[in-house]
Amino acid sequence: MLKQNVEETVAYIRSRTDIKPEIAIVLGSGLGAFGDKIEAPCIIPYGDIPHFAVSTAPGHHGRLIIGKLNGKAILCMQGRFHYYEGYAMGQVTYPVRMMKALGIETLILTNASGGLNPSFSAGDLMLITDHINHMGVNPLIGPNEDSFGPRFPDMTMAYSRELKQAARDAAKRLAIDLREGVYVAFTGPSYETPAEIRMFQQLGADAVGMSTVPEAIVASHSGMRLLAISCVTNLAAGILDVPLSGEEVVEAANQAGAKFTALLAEIIGSI
Ligand code: HPA
Repeated sequence: MLKQNVEETVAYIRSRTDIKPEIAIVLGSGLGAFGDKIEAPCIIPYGDIPHFAVSTAPGHHGRLIIGKLNGKAILCMQGRFHYYEGYAMGQVTYPVRMMKALGIETLILTNASGGLNPSFSAGDLMLITDHINHMGVNPLIGPNEDSFGPRFPDMTMAYSRELKQAARDAAKRLAIDLREGVYVAFTGPSYETPAEIRMFQQLGADAVGMSTVPEAIVASHSGMRLLAISCVTNLAAGILDVPLSGEEVVEAANQAGAKFTALLAEIIGSI
């Protein structure tokens, strides 16, 4: 069923463009401006794509952009699906299945997050070196499709060592201070309480958010090379004595947009 749906989605995308993307990028909240840099784009609204969900989250455009950037053929998701939108994990991660079936072996996930590490500031970019799945669910629960990947996929190499180094090198060339750390995901959509933030800090996390981990698990299952970068849009709840708002998150991500876009383009050109 899943396999057949994915084949139908891939056939539709191939009917829209001859470009054969080699790298996929998922743009997180407020980071969509990167998609506008893509040359000669084929733009497909999610609503047109068979078996795709639609984006309902603020700061997520909800369209697929296929084109060229820095000499590479890329597929970019301008907006993702979150568990908190009410989608099943299979829908949240469906695009990753589609990417792999389309022949894409390299995935770059991005997101907006709250900083837990006291040395972080709003607007920092963080290379995700590892994650903690605190969502209470796993997208691979259910029958395993053996042709997609193993029943018990390894996660020790989930975030490609080689791509992490490429990101560090790209940041150095651009004189961007790239932070590094562990991303913890929980479902949202309420932000965390200050007590939850203290717990996540004790668990060893550096940033917290509501996405990325499901897609990272499915990318690992599919044997894809994965890189993930987070834009720390705010310090997490209770670190500063101010309430959090979704508008603030999207605005901070938009403000970091130029730095983020430059780094992403540099990485893509070098991998
Ligand atoms: N918590 C969870 N998700 C987020 C945050 C946060 O503080 N900021 C941006 N996404």
